[in-house]
Amino acid sequence: MMRSRFDKGIPMIVQCLILFLFLRLNSINSLPHPLDPLSPTEINKTRDIVQGSYLGAIPNLTYHFVDVEEPDKKHVLEWLSSNTKDKPIIIPRQAKVVVRAKGETHELVVDLIKKSIVSDRIYTGHGYPPFTFNELFQATKLPLTYPKFKESIAKRGLNLSEVSCVPFTVGWYGEKITRRALKVSCFYRGGSVNVWARPIEGITVLVDVDSMQITMYNDRYIAPMPKAEGTDFQSSSTSRSKTSSSCDDVSDIGFTIKGHEVKWANWVFHVGFNARAGMIISTASIFDDKRNKYRRVLYRGHVSETFVPYMDPTEEWYFRTFMDAGEFGLGRAADTLQPRVDCPSNAVYMDGYMAGPNGEVQQVPRAICIFERNSGNVAWRHMEINNPQKMIRNGEAEITLVVRMVATVGNYDYVLDWEFLRSGSIKVGVDLTGIMEMKAVSYTEKSQIEERVFGTLVAENTIANYHDHHLTYYLDLDIDDNSNSFINAKLKRATASGFGTPRKSYWTVVREIAKREAEGRIQLGLEPAELLIVNPNKRTKLGNEVGYRLISAQPVTSLLSDDDYPQRRASYTKYQLWVTPYNRSERWVGGFYADRSRGDDGLAVWSLRNREIEHTDIVLWHTVGIHHVPYQEDFAAMPAIHGGFELRPANFFESSPLL
Ligand code: MN
Ligand code: CU
Repeated sequence: MMRSRFDKGIPMIVQCLILFLFLRLNSINSLPHPLDPLSPTEINKTRDIVQGSYLGAIPNLTYHFVDVEEPDKKHVLEWLSSNTKDKPIIIPRQAKVVVRAKGETHELVVDLIKKSIVSDRIYTGHGYPPFTFNELFQATKLPLTYPKFKESIAKRGLNLSEVSCVPFTVGWYGEKITRRALKVSCFYRGGSVNVWARPIEGITVLVDVDSMQITMYNDRYIAPMPKAEGTDFQSSSTSRSKTSSSCDDVSDIGFTIKGHEVKWANWVFHVGFNARAGMIISTASIFDDKRNKYRRVLYRGHVSETFVPYMDPTEEWYFRTFMDAGEFGLGRAADTLQPRVDCPSNAVYMDGYMAGPNGEVQQVPRAICIFERNSGNVAWRHMEINNPQKMIRNGEAEITLVVRMVATVGNYDYVLDWEFLRSGSIKVGVDLTGIMEMKAVSYTEKSQIEERVFGTLVAENTIANYHDHHLTYYLDLDIDDNSNSFINAKLKRATASGFGTPRKSYWTVVREIAKREAEGRIQLGLEPAELLIVNPNKRTKLGNEVGYRLISAQPVTSLLSDDDYPQRRASYTKYQLWVTPYNRSERWVGGFYADRSRGDDGLAVWSLRNREIEHTDIVLWHTVGIHHVPYQEDFAAMPAIHGGFELRPANFFESSPLL
């Protein structure tokens, strides 16, 4: 699939000299954490190196992805365990860059110390890198000057200056030859800020992205324009919640942030950011009082992909089957957080940085917030009356640390949380809010509906279409070390006979160790099971294997048929849980090149090898799914709906870490 071209770069002796100077410098300065995202300076430096190479001479070079090149995990772990004062491990600081030039996709590795491109391959497989902001923006402007579109607008009696267009990715439907393409849908503001509520229905506009031209135009039918009245979402209590005194304040900040490393209560972890995943949690360890040391829990966790297929098979809607992380980028969609709305007043913010279309650094101010939360929940409590002369009542309030970002991917807003608990749990949450995608129809009341519709009538002339949200998380848990196993501990009914009691049945736990990938692929359902990741080499004093368990989200599987094109691209959504051996190149569940992908690169394909997963470094992939049947209350802007899961210690500690 790949062909290689290596940049000879700087002579070896100069490279050695630079490396030597680098080592000297770094013995004086503190080194960045190897998983630190590229700093603004490093992003610009990356661009300078690429522009200074032969690629810089190519006109219209576009930057689609720039991130720190994934360092060797072994080196990162060595770096972490070595003494801070004397770091002997030097990890090369490199950037992974995906650019497009002359219609080709180049994958570059740029060495920031050597100041050269150390690897340049042209990707020739299926699928394309994410769109740049400029491409999306330019595509949405094309209809406005396109004569046939102007005719369509005039025919509908609308005013062109009130039209806003939105870019949609097109997926893949079996075509032999694909080009980078977008479909553009247009909406009518005309008195409303809620563009999504007023679709100009019946029109399909196909844009060839590389030539940035409309290559297909179809105006199939006219539907009435839903009215503007009642669509505005600005009248909500935003201003009220901003000024009211907040009861979620925790008086003093109990955490420290050094660079990207956060320390709070018994936890230490690293918060990164890139254009694709957005927020990335790495190297999370928890302090164990009894062993007097930090113990590893999670090497890395982030959203790997989101799959959002709409259930309307008609011409203007069938292709709406988005893979937001890979096609657009959740980090690219990261929104600046609003203090006292998105995060409470005690929050501390981190900015996000990424490369723009021309490779220059772009900042997302306040992309991530970190705050202590007193949820009002009880962390633990007990009242005891069985002691003579004294009643004991004790407990404590649950105070947690939340790390949050919000990705606004077009109409939807995903509030993505990682919440750390002193009990050792990590709760991963997603709140879905924003505006639904809506279709203009002739009906103003349900009884008028005669033909098939694919959603709920949420306002006059407005159907909000059925759809799914599948968010798949990459979870490289390393429980106490890299050597882990996955255990599906099923709760099974047993017959109670021979005990001389009248009981007929009870349940017990039957542990099944997953030896190969096929056994770690699980459709969760009614069958109760404890989903455990354990370290078979490490035991508690009582002899139990140390572990964590996944308390899954409400199980949701994709209902699309296996041979349906979007399902082939996101076939991993048929199972809520997969376990794979750690592989540095396997991070993006639907494949790195998600746009127009064909499902030939992704978790379901990697996992076909049925590799051994016992007693090795393993990764869990868990999908949080929501089948979204819209209701009228979801209009005009949708109250947040919550999904999520918990990673919870399971014989990891000797006893409750709260006491
Ligand atoms: Mn692992
Ligand atoms: Cu939805």
